[in-house]
Amino acid sequence: MLLLGIETSCDDTAAAVVEDGLRVRASVATSQDAFHAKYGGIVPEIAGRQHVQLISATVEHALETAGATLAEIDGVAVTYGPGLVGSLVVGVAAAKAIAYAAGKPLYAVNHLHGHLYAAFLEQDPAPELPFLGLIVSGGHTQLVDVRAHGDLRIIGRTLDDAAGEAFDKTARVLGLGFPGGPAMDRLAQQGDPTAIDFPRSMLGSDSLDFSFSGLKTSARYFLESPQGKRAKTADVAASFQAAVVDVLVAKTVQAQRRLGYSTVVVAGGVAANSRLRAQMSAWAERSGARLLIPPLRFCTDNAAMVAAAAYHEALGTSDPLTLGADPNLPF
Ligand code: KG4
Ligand code: ZN
Repeated sequence: MLLLGIETSCDDTAAAVVEDGLRVRASVATSQDAFHAKYGGIVPEIAGRQHVQLISATVEHALETAGATLAEIDGVAVTYGPGLVGSLVVGVAAAKAIAYAAGKPLYAVNHLHGHLYAAFLEQDPAPELPFLGLIVSGGHTQLVDVRAHGDLRIIGRTLDDAAGEAFDKTARVLGLGFPGGPAMDRLAQQGDPTAIDFPRSMLGSDSLDFSFSGLKTSARYFLESPQGKRAKTADVAASFQAAVVDVLVAKTVQAQRRLGYSTVVVAGGVAANSRLRAQMSAWAERSGARLLIPPLRFCTDNAAMVAAAAYHEALGTSDPLTLGADPNLPF
């Protein structure tokens, strides 16, 4: 089964062609970072307009790279929420038009489910269910009990900022530009993660919830203090990253022990973080758990994960005339 995936929930215009929810024949993502960087964050109006500019060429490029024609595609899978409304509507409109014109079934995918199904791409053998998922992105941080395809339950979530948001906001205070997560990761590699003892919120508690706003505030106050003004930026980045990663790893391990599942998936943009990957891998090695972290290009927003989710969740079809975007789509 060959699915065309389309993803425009935030600021990446993406299209992909995926076979049987596994083999990625093409995955194209056109980053808009250059258009948002000077504002220090994503400007929704610019994102929507850029999607309009880029969507047709991105879909064509994906089909061309896959060596597939629309006639050979078995269906169109599109992210319809959650996300920025002005961004979502562009992908949804494109998918509806393509599905209607080509007479193909249309599948409406939840972006967050997509992030988890990124772990199925190019994986042999496929992840076994049930599994524990950690979704860490710019907008979300949540632990998910994936009992069966289509039966996903949140068992822990952030009470305030998402992990990626904490990275981005602190990176901004450090003058690292946008998006801050990757820049922070690079800089942290030259710093000492034990230099500053930033707080690890919620670590002592039984709850599987996260909180990152205290850490973010603590980093800001530190940087305004005389000690902070003397500190090396790389040390601040490394220490901040260590605090975020410590909490993410500890809560994931706690959840895995509670559920007793042997497979753990870590997905979303922050799963690209080198320290998180290294620490989760070290834990998996020690514990014998099967850890799946998608390759970098499938961690950040992409359309291959959308096609994978539609395939594995065996979604019913949507009406190409009436499907709407849902910016607040619940998990
Ligand atoms: O999943 P994603 O591409 O978009 C959302 O759905 O939010 O995630 C983007 C987030 C941003 O906050 C970005 O700073 C963060 O992922 N990110 C990273 C790294 N790469 C991307 N955070 C930490 N370390 C990285 N290497
Ligand atoms: Zn995302």
